[in-house]
Amino acid sequence: MTKLSISSLFLMLVLSYLSDGAIGKVNLKEVDRKLKQLNKPAVKTIQSEDGDIIDCVDIYKQPAFDHPALKNHVIQMKPNFDVKEEKPSTTAESSKLVVSQTWRRSGSCPEGTVPIRRIRREDLLRTNSIDRFGRKPQEIVVSKSNTTNQIDGHSPFINNTKLSFPTMANRSAAVLVTVGYNYIGAKADINVWNPQVEANDEFTTAQIWLKAGPGDNFESLESGWTVNPHLYGDRRTRFFAHWTKDSYKTTGCFDLTCSGFVLTGTEITLGGAIDHISSHFGQQYKITVGIYMYSLMVDFQDPKTSNWWLKYGSDIPVGYWPAATLMSYLKHSSTLVEWGGQVYSPNVKKKPHTRTAMGSGDFASGLFGNACFIRNPNIVDYSLALKYPEWVGAWADEAYCYSAYNYQKSYGTLPVFYFGGPGQNHNCP
Ligand SMILES: *[C@@H]1O[C@H](CO)[C@@H](O)[C@H](O)[C@H]1NC(C)=O
Ligand SMILES: *[C@@H]1O[C@H](CO)[C@@H](O)[C@H](O)[C@H]1NC(C)=O
Ligand SMILES: *[C@@H]1O[C@H](CO)[C@@H](O)[C@H](O)[C@H]1NC(C)=O
Repeated sequence: MTKLSISSLFLMLVLSYLSDGAIGKVNLKEVDRKLKQLNKPAVKTIQSEDGDIIDCVDIYKQPAFDHPALKNHVIQMKPNFDVKEEKPSTTAESSKLVVSQTWRRSGSCPEGTVPIRRIRREDLLRTNSIDRFGRKPQEIVVSKSNTTNQIDGHSPFINNTKLSFPTMANRSAAVLVTVGYNYIGAKADINVWNPQVEANDEFTTAQIWLKAGPGDNFESLESGWTVNPHLYGDRRTRFFAHWTKDSYKTTGCFDLTCSGFVLTGTEITLGGAIDHISSHFGQQYKITVGIYMYSLMVDFQDPKTSNWWLKYGSDIPVGYWPAATLMSYLKHSSTLVEWGGQVYSPNVKKKPHTRTAMGSGDFASGLFGNACFIRNPNIVDYSLALKYPEWVGAWADEAYCYSAYNYQKSYGTLPVFYFGGPGQNHNCP
């Protein structure tokens, strides 16, 4: 017997032992009910070489339709509008676009189905509460940020006005922010890395946020990549989407772990691993992520179809959030867009600091080939064109742990946003 099969046998024994009784607070009947609800019957099943199982589910039987308000939802099969691309500045160092996910090497989903990453029993057994499965932890404001403090709560200047962001418990961010308009879209090229995550209940992201609403109860649509062992059961870099209507208190979730997001494409699965990871001084890879309120662009009067579309790669529609159903402020527009990274850990903003890294694990000052970048952080306003925001501010919660640097190489070129860091180091003990 090989080492591998012995350890997997051991794992099976442990799991069967555990399944004899309740684990922690999780009730096993509840686990099975949840699994049945999340995993819809498959028309075809694809076993990916990374261990994922992808179910091709009838598009009309996907989890979105479990949402009470989406029972009679008519699927919008594709976005009904194209945003005008501004030509990006061409001084950018070369990086390759990652166009597909690992599972696609093992098969594809037929027309009329959507690819859904199967949730396993052990994924649910890792959680303390089935109700909170797949959800980002609630954002708890600790204090208003204070600029006299050099380490915590840096506030960005936008348009020469200092913005004050509240300090959040258990979260550390390094972001580029824009406010001041109504945004009906945002996009970015995000460099792909696989940063270390120290403990299983921590995660790290590189992403876009579109937000609206009051600070303690905001609505947010998010997408990018993450390393999140608690959710996915491994430390691969994965493409994710997340939404919330109440700053993660009781609504929303990652990917399709709750009902709401409507998948339409056959090519991209939410939570699927990204094939190519950049290396220091080596080949750089990026994904392109865009979130657009298409219907609004076409018909401002018909909120029933005000959907926020998620696009991946050069122009692949993944699906959409039906804003009229899920959102209230975001039915109309977003008022704050952020690009960058976030580390979730009970050990941020304290000593000893977590070793969970952000971005590439290098500081923003490492620039191209070392630090994680976000290029072409574009927004869409009512002019319906993608463009670099008029005002931006860069901001890091803990600049000695994870830094932020909006770097303009030369006059006349657009800045590239670099961010990240190792977490714990001699300046961040
Ligand atoms: C910010 O820090 C200063 C100096 O430490 C202090 O006087 C002030 O009350 C603080 N403000 C807030 C909002 O915490
Ligand atoms: C930015 O600054 C200009 C000039 O001070 C002002 O007219 C404009 O309203 C400001 N915009 C925002 C969003 O604060
Ligand atoms: C931070 O995380 C720890 C560990 O999960 C948790 O006990 C604590 O309540 C969290 N703090 C806040 C303010 O949410």
